[in-house]
Amino acid sequence: MVQIAPSMLSADFLHLEHDVETVNSHADLFHLDIMDGVFVPNISYGFPVVEAIASKAARPMDAHLMIVHPEKYVERFAKTGIAMLSAHLEAMEAPLSVMGLIHSCGMKAGIAFNPDVPVERVFPYLESCDFVLVMSVFAGFGGQKFIETTYERVRTLKMEILRRGLDVKIEVDGGVSPVNAAALAEAGADILVAGSAVFKASDPAAAVAAMR
Ligand code: DX5
Ligand code: ZN
Repeated sequence: MVQIAPSMLSADFLHLEHDVETVNSHADLFHLDIMDGVFVPNISYGFPVVEAIASKAARPMDAHLMIVHPEKYVERFAKTGIAMLSAHLEAMEAPLSVMGLIHSCGMKAGIAFNPDVPVERVFPYLESCDFVLVMSVFAGFGGQKFIETTYERVRTLKMEILRRGLDVKIEVDGGVSPVNAAALAEAGADILVAGSAVFKASDPAAAVAAMR
């Protein structure tokens, strides 16, 4: 069964509690996009917003770090109650030690990577992480168009995970909607992140249900 993780980047920040309740009632995880304006050309939100969401979240929180030097903030995210933490392969000098640090702080560890990173580049780290976050748009902004080559990338990863008998989940992030959700699940995705498809929909609960 695929899990649905609404991205709070597309939430209504003037009515954040309302959108938090939508996730609590209808979805599986909170996806929190952390952008530093350096690793990606955009700045999202930081600890005050994460803490506000945490205070009302009844579902696990999944933070996606699009920042340089992610290792500097691992402990701090653990303290906010984050359950799953991912950092970009392109932003880590020593991925194994970052994954180890995330684990030592009691969180599930994930490796994220952009559409121009060959999937084979994460193969050496599959044993050290709990999930991989396959970007289906270039990290940095919500509301972008889904990149179709993602299906093949997910299939390749899934085959490698199964071949090695690992329990590594595949999360897909960017341009996900009811239009491509079924095909992504069929390709091997376990977690689907969706921002605009959920929060810009006239009925967010129905959008989540349609993706399932
Ligand atoms: C993009 C973020 C995504 C984004 C998804 O850098 O990682 O999580 O918020 O938004 P949509 O679903 O609108 O593409
Ligand atoms: Zn994300």
